[in-house]
This record gives sequence, structure tokens and C-alpha cells, in this order.
Amino acid sequence: MEKISRTKIVDLLRRDDFGAMVNVKGWVRTRRGSKQVSFIALNDGSTINNVQLVADLANFDEEMLKLITTGACLSVNGLLAESVGSGQKVEVLAREIEVLGACDNTYPLQKKGHSLEFLREIAHLRPRTNTFGAVFRIRHNMAIAVHQFFHQRGFFYFHTPIITASDCEGAGQMFQVTTMNLYDLKKKEDGTIDYENDFFGKQASLTVSGQLEGELAAMSLGSIYTFGPTFRAENSNTPRHLAEFWMIEPEVAFNEIQENMQLAEDFIKYCIQWALDQCIDDIQFLNDMFDKELIERLKFVLSHNFIRLPYTEGVKILEEAVSNGRKFEFPIFWGADLASEHERYLVEEHFKCPVILTDYPKEIKSFYMKQNEDGKTVRAMDVLFPKIGEIIGGSQREENYEKLCNRAKEMGVPEKDIWWYLDTRRFGTAPHSGFGLGFERLLLFVTGMTNIRDVIPFPRTPHNADF
Ligand code: 4AD
Ligand code: MG
Repeated sequence: MEKISRTKIVDLLRRDDFGAMVNVKGWVRTRRGSKQVSFIALNDGSTINNVQLVADLANFDEEMLKLITTGACLSVNGLLAESVGSGQKVEVLAREIEVLGACDNTYPLQKKGHSLEFLREIAHLRPRTNTFGAVFRIRHNMAIAVHQFFHQRGFFYFHTPIITASDCEGAGQMFQVTTMNLYDLKKKEDGTIDYENDFFGKQASLTVSGQLEGELAAMSLGSIYTFGPTFRAENSNTPRHLAEFWMIEPEVAFNEIQENMQLAEDFIKYCIQWALDQCIDDIQFLNDMFDKELIERLKFVLSHNFIRLPYTEGVKILEEAVSNGRKFEFPIFWGADLASEHERYLVEEHFKCPVILTDYPKEIKSFYMKQNEDGKTVRAMDVLFPKIGEIIGGSQREENYEKLCNRAKEMGVPEKDIWWYLDTRRFGTAPHSGFGLGFERLLLFVTGMTNIRDVIPFPRTPHNADF
């Protein structure tokens, strides 16, 4: 076969130099036609769109033609031609075809219309579907948007450790990391496990957040963000929780809660605008396929200011709804942690707009949040989104050394684990704020997918770590 340098399909579909000899490589999506001619839809992942190959069967070897089945991988030389019927502007009149990889007939993606549940069971192949091609191209673009947004604003990308000995959120949902032999655990006299001979000489886990280390960086670099994998062993098998997810955590010296809220709003809007600008083919596909209101919803969020509301006011609205007959599964009262149904009521039914809820009761939030004068609430902020619920959690941080130590003690966070964190409050402390955006929750919103397992290539959830 003549050696011609490959053109990606995304580029090919934009060309109009008809008559040029081109090479395309990709996987067969469909093949149809007659005894004389075959129409082959080829996709190479560079775009959701296929290129149509037209093959005059008389020109090709019969045995080779038999191998051109759905899923097979081809390299094709041919003439770029103007197309009339393929739905695209161009097609390729095949001159030479090489089957790089035949596909046997047990290939599970023979026909269209598999359920998302079924596709999860073949996560090694699902990127080859239109839906997951679209989702993962959008996922890439959102990661780029994250870096663009912060880089343009002078934030530094800071890498925080994945293995840690401190529980930032204090929620005790950590995966332990050990090299000890679990069949022969050494115990101390009091029955507790002796970590002296473990790899780190102490109990270690996978991180639930890079925030504490991020704060250290903000106290020198000023504005930083982290973007990395995060692990939580919460046994909640919901469409919004993963055991392994990606989180973006900006942290900014001198920002107070108001500026933190504005940063969060600007950040989300920037990402959504980026998706509409860079991924419209994929978003349009998902809109038509799964969720007819997707694009409308994205544009709506861009054009509205987020509502800002103290938790106490939010609870009043919810209590009023209950007294007007609205039923919730979980009870609502001042002091209760809001369930997803409460958050979505505020966003989808009451305000019909994203809401930033602030000033939560200190009992339901982490030890590091700045305590308000009232002695009851902390300067927390959760950004609540339609269809998602909580998409961002953050706060202004307690910068006062004594107050922070006391709160850590009250909440059972051992000083020996966080002495280095407490040190920042002794050595030139400053007001500062930050938040965490769940990357997959953002992707749920941008793609319109409804299960978080469908926006990450290989989801980790309770009893599921295949692939
Ligand atoms: O509200 P969270 O727990 O906040 C923190 O971790 C803070 N340290 C962030 C900070 O202030 N720097 O988590 C932040 C976000 C949530 O709003 C949610 O979007 C996402 O992380 N998240 C999850 N996403 C998927 N699966 C899970 N199990 C998640 N847990 C939290
Ligand atoms: Mg939270």
C-alpha cells in the first residue's frame, strides 16, 4: 500500500481540495451497500462525525472485503470527493484498503442502542460508542478549561500528595495504604495495630482532599489550585458518588468568603462557556440523544447570577415547603445536613437557579472553617446546581491559631497529625479561602449524563474496580 501521511477525520471533514489523495485510519462503525459498492462509516475518535468511504467492490480482494465488519480497524488510501448523500460534505473514494485489525463476530457493539448499564459492563470498549466518545472528548476539554482559567488568573498549579497521614475532611472515609501482611498483623499490647514496621512507620491513607497542603502553598504562592485524584470510602452507591474522583481545589490568600463565592461562580461559568465553544458537536449529540434541554440549561446558567443565601434562610424555605405539604424523605430542621433532595428543591423548584448556600452550622462542617461571631455557624459555602445538588464545597478558613486548635480538638482531629498545618497560623497567618469542585459533578452537568459512572472512563464504586 502506498505510504501517505494520515489525515485525522476531524481535519478531513473540513477540507475541500477534492481529488486529493488522502489516507485515513479508524474503526468501522457500519457497512452497508450492494453487490457492487460498499459504504463504510469510519470513525477515528478525533470527532463524533464519521467519514464515509465508498468502495467499488470489483477493485478489491474478496477475502479482504470479508474482514470489513463493524469494529474492524482499517487504513484506507483514497480520493477526497464531494459527497451528496452521506450527510457530510466530503467522502473518500477508496483506492487501497488495508485491514489493520479484523474484528471477530463476538464484538459486543454490533448494533446501536445499547443501554448505559450494559455499556458499563464493557467499559474497555464503550469509548468506541458515540456517547462515550463525546463524553471523554468533553472531559478532556474541561480539564484544559480548568488549567486555562487558573493560569490566566495567575494561579499556580500545585501538586499535593496522594498518600497522606491526615484526614482533611475528618469524615473518616479513607482507604488505608499499607505494605503489612494482613494475614499476620502485629498488634501492640493494648490490642491496637503496630504501624512501626509499616512502610511509613505510621498509619497512612489515600487522600480525601489536597486542601490542607494547598493552604500551605497559598501562604507563599498566594493563589494556587490543585487538580488530582481523590479517594473516599463512603459506602454510598448513588449516581453522584465515586470512590475515586477528581477534584479541583483553588486556595487564595487574602480572599474572604464573598470573593471565594465570586471565584467559584466565575470558574464554573468559564468551564461551561468553554464546553459550548469547544465541544458543541459532542454536546449537540448528547442533547439530541439523551436530554433535549441540555444546551438550554447550560446557557441558562451562563446568563444568571447565582443566588446567595445563608443556610438558616434555606432551612426556613424548606420548612415552609414541608408545612405546605411538600414531602421529603429526610427530615429538615435547623442543624440538619441537607440531603440532595433538599438542595435540589431549593435550586430546581424554589429559585430555579444555582444557589450558593453559606454559613452552615459548625457541627456539620469541617474543623478548618472560619467561625462566625454567632458561635453557631461557620463561613462555609456550598454551590448547589440543578440536576446535581452540591457541585462545590468550600469556605473561608479559620486563620486564628487558638480558635483553630480548639475546634480541631473538639472535633477529634489529633494535633500530632496536623501540627504542620496549625503552624501556618503561627507564622504569618492571613485570611484565606478556597473550595473544591468535583470534576465529575461538573461533567454530569455539562454532558447531561445522569450517572457519575458514565463521565469517568473506569469508575470505582463499592464492589466495582474492574478494568
Ligand atoms: O465538599 P467536599 O467534601 O469539600 C472538600 O473536600 C474541601 N476540602 C474542598 C475545599 O474547600 N478545598 O468536596 C468537594 C466537592 C463536592 O462538592 C463534590 O462536588 C465533590 O467534591 N465530591 C465528590 N464527587 C464524587 N464522588 C464523591 N464521593 C465526592 N465527594 C465529594
Ligand atoms: Mg461538601
